[in-house]
Amino acid sequence: MTKLKKSANGFTYLSVKNEKANAKISLQGAHLFHFSHDEKQPFVWLSKSSLFEQNKAIRGGVPVCWPWFGKHQTQSNLPQHGFARTSLWSLEKIDEPDKGTTIVTLTLNDSPQSMLLWPYAFSLSLTITIGDKLVLSLRTFNKDKKAFEITEALHTYLWVEDIGNVEVSGLENVKYVDSLDDSKIKSSFVPLSIHKEVDRVYFDTKDCCVIHDKKRKLIVEKFGSNSTVVWNPWSEKAKAMQDFDNEGYKTMLCIETANALKNSIIIEPGESHTITQTIYSL
Ligand code: BG6
Repeated sequence: MTKLKKSANGFTYLSVKNEKANAKISLQGAHLFHFSHDEKQPFVWLSKSSLFEQNKAIRGGVPVCWPWFGKHQTQSNLPQHGFARTSLWSLEKIDEPDKGTTIVTLTLNDSPQSMLLWPYAFSLSLTITIGDKLVLSLRTFNKDKKAFEITEALHTYLWVEDIGNVEVSGLENVKYVDSLDDSKIKSSFVPLSIHKEVDRVYFDTKDCCVIHDKKRKLIVEKFGSNSTVVWNPWSEKAKAMQDFDNEGYKTMLCIETANALKNSIIIEPGESHTITQTIYSL
């Protein structure tokens, strides 16, 4: 069953419920902000203080960072992580191939407003499969007469039971840019555990990550992605963010399927590029 719903402040979202999973997807940003098989252990984390306001990204779920990841390379006044996550997308179609699978497709095209921020004609589509697994697939099509270059991320906030007990494997011996240490290039041969703020772009990696939590493992597989971003703001930065509940950093970890920094993608006119992320639990 899928229903378009409106929250009290007029925020429109799609509520999806099938035999396997529940999900909520906002039309602003094509932003999935809830996914669970049972309510106790959701796949994605959502801040209790998230604002659900127009032109502000939801804090949690899977923001779509596009057509640039992080700060704009040359213009610091442009929005962090691009404009896709705050734009209003169109609900293109909903398919229900079986009782346990719902496939939602949303689209975003260039507009006079997007041209002011990024001067290219494009067509973007996000296909979200809600079932045993959660699959998000972002396709960028170049409708322009000239080639364009993008960086991007499916900025997934994963729900974890206890960040202090989490271990992430899949990033051993992969080089990363440490945004908290002067963008130094580093690597580590052991699985990652998190006991303080972390903000890293692992590059030149196509590998999947396994998040070993207390009672389950979450697997994040990816395709069309050469970077993986890992972020947890920890307590001080969480407190400084109006939309991040103070204790929330203890139950979240961003593992972002990305093409960032030197892993940018050039797309020729008439060509497309797709980045796909599949999440499931064991
Ligand atoms: C991460 C970045 O992907 O997103 C961090 O690596 C950033 O540097 C974080 O702080 C959150 O960004 P925002 O714009 O949603 O607050």
